[in-house]
Amino acid sequence: MCGIVGYIGSRVAYPILIKGLKRLEYRGYDSAGIALHDGTNLKVYKSKGKVSDLEIFSEQKNIEGTVGIAHTRWATHGEPNQINAHPHYSQSEELVIIHNGIIENYSVLKQGLTEHGFTFQSDTDTEVLIQLIEFMKNTNRVDLPTAVQLALNEVVGAYAIAVVDKNNPDMIVAARKGSPLVVGIGEDEYFVGSDATPIIEYTNKVVYIGEEEIVTLERNKPLKIKTIGNVEKFPEINKLELTLSQLEKGGFPHFMLKEIFEQPQTLSNCMKGRVNVDSNNITLAGFIDNKDKFLNAKRIIITACGTSWHSALIGMYIIEEYARIPVEVEYSSEFRYRKPVIDKDDVVIAISQSGETADTLAAVELAKQNGAFIFGICNVVGSSIPRNTHSGCYTHVGPEIGVASTKAFTAQVMVLTMLALLIGKEKGTLSEENYLKLIKELNQIPDKITAILEKENSIKDFSKTFTYASNFIYLGRGYNFPVAMEGALKLKEISYIHAEGYPAAEMKHGPIALISQEMPVVVIATKSATYEKVVSNIQEIKARKGRIISIITEGDEIVKNLSDFSISIPDTEECLSPLLAVIPLQLLAYHIAVVKGCNVDQPRNLAKSVTVE
Ligand code: G6P
Repeated sequence: MCGIVGYIGSRVAYPILIKGLKRLEYRGYDSAGIALHDGTNLKVYKSKGKVSDLEIFSEQKNIEGTVGIAHTRWATHGEPNQINAHPHYSQSEELVIIHNGIIENYSVLKQGLTEHGFTFQSDTDTEVLIQLIEFMKNTNRVDLPTAVQLALNEVVGAYAIAVVDKNNPDMIVAARKGSPLVVGIGEDEYFVGSDATPIIEYTNKVVYIGEEEIVTLERNKPLKIKTIGNVEKFPEINKLELTLSQLEKGGFPHFMLKEIFEQPQTLSNCMKGRVNVDSNNITLAGFIDNKDKFLNAKRIIITACGTSWHSALIGMYIIEEYARIPVEVEYSSEFRYRKPVIDKDDVVIAISQSGETADTLAAVELAKQNGAFIFGICNVVGSSIPRNTHSGCYTHVGPEIGVASTKAFTAQVMVLTMLALLIGKEKGTLSEENYLKLIKELNQIPDKITAILEKENSIKDFSKTFTYASNFIYLGRGYNFPVAMEGALKLKEISYIHAEGYPAAEMKHGPIALISQEMPVVVIATKSATYEKVVSNIQEIKARKGRIISIITEGDEIVKNLSDFSISIPDTEECLSPLLAVIPLQLLAYHIAVVKGCNVDQPRNLAKSVTVE
């Protein structure tokens, strides 16, 4: 979703800002813009489309200046055109703003400002905010940080903003509530970003701006932070672990393919120091410190969105099987508004790759207010959700740039698996023998994924057959029902083919009506307690001339012979099979999208980090 980048220092700001915008492209956007202060003038250049379009637009214009802010916009209020793109000027054109988030009370504020003579060029809520800041500045005769503070006290909604004043080329004021913001500290220079990706090239010293905090970045002066309630804060400097090479494609044509292929390594990283095959043990610091909360939990609620919600479903299966604690899985967006019954003996697990998803963050807040213990499973270190939970576990897969989540999903499943096995062992609901067997098998997973990845070429070949299709059905049972949904989500996200994931047995209650020789049906038919039943479901599809693509266990000739195409995966414990079964589905979606000529890493309308509700 919208990306923010800013720079103040002694270098020319333009190339830093453009490069920063490119690093933020993965978040998803539809227009881009930049504001530069050359010491005298405050200029704004913006354009619909990609950052490369902005570069063309800015060619031969005055791009001087050592202070500037830049933005990629994912449209919320007003269509994605040049006028609605950020930055936005205030009425006098003395102030400019970039904004990520939604000002919910913008129409009331706009009306008030209109009565004071303000006029508006765009349809955005953001322009209302910069006019309000200008109004506060002029009527109260205050400096920019104070004007921002006064304005934000009037605002309902979520924001990360950065503001520059024509009359002060030595200052950027930035603030956040609900949307992420990071400040990078270099040698006599500051950077600001929606995340650390535009900053990492220049410094590894960062300050994560907290909720309702305003930060003032002044040339040659220390960073100043205060809350919108006027409490001064001491900036806490963190060291970034991110490396530049992690943000590059490393020879792969797309980030998504690179991330699919990284999974043997990312899962090893995720298990490193946690799953110890020699001492036959699993150690999770976030669990050990709060063991009683888990062991005494009457219920576990898992809340998440998108792909993370699918991993939550797998978590439900494995926690209930081995830890014998009732689990409920909730879409964060529903949970936060449906007045759920939450008890102080509940453990709420929030799963989020980005750690910034607005609905999941709000679900965390709600659960916290109701006294539950909150455990986060997140990837982005230092992001908002892990900073708002009581405890948690990072997935440690490195930056995930492709909008369609792949390596984050498998690592989320891995963390949930480790957690389930640990609770089960501690509670005595999982026998020592099974615990040891599962630990051993967990360690085999990276190698087994490597073996599946070696089949990429055959998946690529048969993917071509299906580009004609406008619909797909994905079927699975038990642990692989969520995998079917995840496979369908991958396909629709990046190839724009409509796809539905269904529990295989439910097919006869509706989707069977859709089956014809035009309809590809992807069936996860690996060896499991319900294998025979899935074989019967395949027969039902065959009888109606549906085209079967199956994911089977190596050596399974029965389903192979019933299928038009099949991909075999190594045998494993049933509860771990999602970690393997999802890999061919990721590759299938990827190759279909590539053959269709789709923009795999930045699919239309989608955002990597959904920071608005
Ligand atoms: C967006 C992304 C998905 C992701 C979902 C939840 O829709 O495009 O890939 O699964 O948000 O994101 P989170 O960061 O909370 O896991």
